Amino acid sequence: MPKDLKTISGFSKLSKRGKIKWIVQNFFKEPDTVMSELMSYWHSNEEQQKILDNFSENTISNFPMPFGVAPNFIIDGRTYCIPMVIEESSVVAAASAGAKFWMDRGGFRTEILSTKKLGQVHFTWGGDAAKLKYYFEDIKKKLITECFAITSSMVKRGGGILDIELIDLTDQESNLYQLLGSFETCDSMGANFINTCLEQFSTSLMNFFDTSPHFQGEAKAEIIMSILSNYTPECIVRAYVECPISSLGKFPNGMSAEAFALKFKQAIRIAEIDPYRATTHNKGIFNGIDAVVIATGNDFRAIEACGHTYATRSGQYSSLSHCKLENGQFKFWLDLPLAVGTVGGLTSLHPIAKRSLELLEDPNAKELMSIIATVGLAQNFAAVRSLITTGIQQGHMKMHLQNILNQLKANKAEELAAIEHFADEIVSFSAVRAYLEKLRLD
Ligand code: MEV
Repeated sequence: MPKDLKTISGFSKLSKRGKIKWIVQNFFKEPDTVMSELMSYWHSNEEQQKILDNFSENTISNFPMPFGVAPNFIIDGRTYCIPMVIEESSVVAAASAGAKFWMDRGGFRTEILSTKKLGQVHFTWGGDAAKLKYYFEDIKKKLITECFAITSSMVKRGGGILDIELIDLTDQESNLYQLLGSFETCDSMGANFINTCLEQFSTSLMNFFDTSPHFQGEAKAEIIMSILSNYTPECIVRAYVECPISSLGKFPNGMSAEAFALKFKQAIRIAEIDPYRATTHNKGIFNGIDAVVIATGNDFRAIEACGHTYATRSGQYSSLSHCKLENGQFKFWLDLPLAVGTVGGLTSLHPIAKRSLELLEDPNAKELMSIIATVGLAQNFAAVRSLITTGIQQGHMKMHLQNILNQLKANKAEELAAIEHFADEIVSFSAVRAYLEKLRLD
């Protein structure tokens, strides 16, 4: 069989240059151009580049994303300028607009509802469930004691293992059980801490079955796996805004504050009852959430997975935000599970994540939960406000105009002319292209 040039063994052993060379030669039409393009994104400082390279494997270059800020966020009486890493036009502008709107109406408020994180050891055992439950207090004591070496420094910081429960799943799958550990991980996201504890639990559990006189001659237990759960419905923050309906102000096309409040509430209700709308609605919330999560070096995949599971907790995927009009007050809030950290992981290793946290005046994990949830709420407010007033495209495409101009390689004079022209025109790729073609002919 002829050798497939697109496969390789020992790729990871090649130098960075060697890796790029192999890639450009086998996958690109202009290898030299692509090679220098990829290398142009290497950091000029070798030490810094090494730090970035070590975050992952087979790294060949850096992938730049815009690092922006949204100022004017008043959260629990403090003013923040919030770092956001996002590639989508109008997200930062929308967050800033939401922040500005609420700045004049008392700002955002937050409440940490709880900070419990979870992990599981899944195991099988073919003995009598009642017996296992009877001896579980002994097992739990052993598990916690044998974890002391791992938990001691977390305990000193005010955290550690909160509890371990035995979950009997044998009615769904024969012989299947779970140890459900709950943890307080203070200012760290805690993934490594929790997983290390869980692996120790599984060792201790197996040791219990092997050595306890009450379990000799019994069926053999088997550990299936030990891993944290990214679903943390008890690590949750509420962000909210509230003001008299009459203070909401005036909206485009002469829409009154009362009409706006009613329409806004209806828009949120639609997202509560219709999963199709809820998905887009929550995506808008995550536009803001992810941008801050990434900027602060946290794990956006974990945050997304958790948020979407939480949105399904009633059995149907639904809105993460809610709105109420009560006694002349407009109330809008978001409850969101957010397992984030401000120490450990990338937070202190990534040079820009470190600066993001500094920009936020070094928040603890609870404060960061408040900040992130607030940005989600501001984002959602701004998106829904646009949707029910002017429509989203007007602002969105105006922001996107610059991208289209860049794509069409407009020069400075063409850019200025296009921006002026499209101030009152509908922006689309074809409209901008036609406009530039005409301009270039004149
Ligand atoms: C676009 O990225 C986000 C929105 O679709 C959110 C929403 O519809 O609420 C504008």
